[in-house]
Amino acid sequence: MNLLAPSRVDPAFRADVLAGFRMARRAIPARWFYDRAGSELFERITRLPDYYPTRVETALLERIAPEVAAMVGPGRAVVEFGSGSSIKTPHLLEAIAPAAYVPIDISGEFLRESAAALASDFPKLSILPVEADFMQPIAPPAEIASLPKLGFFPGSTIGNMVARTAVNLLRAMVETLGVGSMLLIGMDRIKDVDVLIRAYDDAEGVTAAFNLNLLHRINRELDADIPVDAFRHRAIWNDRFARIEMRLEAVRDSSFTIEGEHFFMAAGETIHTENSHKYGPRDARLLLRAGAWTPIAEWTDEKDRFALILAEAQPPGTAP
Ligand code: AVI
Repeated sequence: MNLLAPSRVDPAFRADVLAGFRMARRAIPARWFYDRAGSELFERITRLPDYYPTRVETALLERIAPEVAAMVGPGRAVVEFGSGSSIKTPHLLEAIAPAAYVPIDISGEFLRESAAALASDFPKLSILPVEADFMQPIAPPAEIASLPKLGFFPGSTIGNMVARTAVNLLRAMVETLGVGSMLLIGMDRIKDVDVLIRAYDDAEGVTAAFNLNLLHRINRELDADIPVDAFRHRAIWNDRFARIEMRLEAVRDSSFTIEGEHFFMAAGETIHTENSHKYGPRDARLLLRAGAWTPIAEWTDEKDRFALILAEAQPPGTAP
């Protein structure tokens, strides 16, 4: 039993885990991957040879930044959604000479670390961090109220949301940034299934450790005794939904308790832990339009693996 658990645990984590294990189709939201160990494992994933998205998007951004700069013009406030410890941001900031940079992240710790790192590289730039959940509309800092804005949402994080959630987020971004704003968003493309599977089930086993860390986290933070060695990482391509699904599959029958509640999983049963949707060119544009953004330019790498799309906020009541 973890005697430290009751005072430290996030009630939303406990509620999501218990609800997720009670469902016939077990599922736990992917946002719970990112405790400190999970965030470190994710940073390692982004540097893996098999995980192409970070490498390809970063190189693409570096290449197209001057063109983006010409299209958005100088003096904008760049608002980054879920800034984390992004390595891509400096490429954009260098090219577009913004008037201010507003990183938004739910993790204050991450936010302060990345803001401090950027401040030393861009000493003259006004950096205004906002600790908030960007899934909801946010009031931007008063200092940027009168500036034109460019939203920045790299990493294909939009792909981790089902279409309805993605559309809600895009609409919340219009509210946060305002009409007249622009958005530069990264979206991973549909591609060869083998390449996709390798990216989410890498040869070094880092993605497996990332997925299994969720069970370790449940044991660490909740009063739980899940036998982690009774589970294995699975990455599956679901063609109907054009997404990679990550699952944890029981390799033998196992019984365990979480917060005093008993659970049983038979060998072969799975817990669904993440979706990573991939978008064809038309799907990507349709998603943006459904979210009240009009795509105006897009770029991909030479193998069409990853796209960066520039879009403009639709004025309300755009017809028909
Ligand atoms: C954060 N997100 C865009 C990653 C992705 O590719 O869907 C999360 C990830 N999961 C496993 N590997 C990377």
